[in-house]
Amino acid sequence: MSPFTKQPDRNMAMELVRVTEAAAISAARYMGVGNKEIGDQAAVDAMRAVLETVDMDGVVIIGEGEKDEAPMLYNGEKVGNGNGPKMDVAVDPVEGTRLLANGTANSIAVIAASASGSMWVPEDSLYMKKIVVEERAKHVINIKDSPAENLERIAHALDRDVHELTVFVLDKPRHKKLIEDIRSVGARISLHTDGDVMGALMAAIPGTGVDVLMGTGGTPEGVIAAAAVKALRGGMQAMRDPQLEDEKRIIAEKGIDLNKVLYIDDLIRAEDAFFAATGITEGSFLKGVHFDKIKGVTTHSIVIRALSGSIRLIEGSHSLKRKLEFGEKGMQDAVKMASM
Ligand code: FBP
Repeated sequence: MSPFTKQPDRNMAMELVRVTEAAAISAARYMGVGNKEIGDQAAVDAMRAVLETVDMDGVVIIGEGEKDEAPMLYNGEKVGNGNGPKMDVAVDPVEGTRLLANGTANSIAVIAASASGSMWVPEDSLYMKKIVVEERAKHVINIKDSPAENLERIAHALDRDVHELTVFVLDKPRHKKLIEDIRSVGARISLHTDGDVMGALMAAIPGTGVDVLMGTGGTPEGVIAAAAVKALRGGMQAMRDPQLEDEKRIIAEKGIDLNKVLYIDDLIRAEDAFFAATGITEGSFLKGVHFDKIKGVTTHSIVIRALSGSIRLIEGSHSLKRKLEFGEKGMQDAVKMASM
């Protein structure tokens, strides 16, 4: 019997990209204003409004705000129009709030969704150590081994010399030793103040100029990245790595094992996962939001689905004037400020 018996089904990520486009357009107005909250709030409002149109019965598992009291799409918030499948949803309306506030590269609006009950819930863990690579190197990584050992094996798997690898690392004091270790084997480093979801995405996609993501970043960002890495069939491992005193204390009180490795199938326990991201500020992988009197507003997004393995890079062209005439909710800020 032919295996081709099923009708092509819905790719929810194609609807979720409207959510990240709206968030990115709204937030982009606040590029470089020097205030992290204002762009985040605009993105949250836009994201929430467009999410209401998506056919799903979603619950925010990874939301905004717990780490740095950002304006909320809070954990436990119901999203979607209530029709359709029960989903776990992870959002980061502005991943890289400081990047947006400073107008520097690689802030994105991002969302991921997978079947209800399938997303790892970080609870009291705010930070995790992560390693991410593309598919060809996924069987050679071991987060418990040294950076040098991992890099030697990754280079071999990718048929390169170690000094030809580029490692994305967050530029944080906690990474002093990691950076020294990477340099000691001669691999190249790309340091970024923020934005390790983008780092993970680039590491999991061949040919982006980033081969590996290493180091400690947020747990919410880890789960969001895991949805993308899973869909891309890349490799990812993580371990809780508490950084804040309260975080360390609570984890110790609960007796949580810090040595446990979280594999990609622990972070996303579903075969299907949907991921969409839209650039806000200009980036090395996704372009930022561009405003132009003639072309309107241009967005650049990536849309990925795990089950089918489809990856789409979408350039969107939007007329805010028509959205205003249409009375569409969600982009009030952007529309108010726009004359296009
Ligand atoms: P925000 O968007 O919440 O500002 O997070 C940006 C980010 O750089 C993440 O990409 C990263 O995982 C995390 O913050 C690292 O946290 P910290 O800056 O506290 O080390």
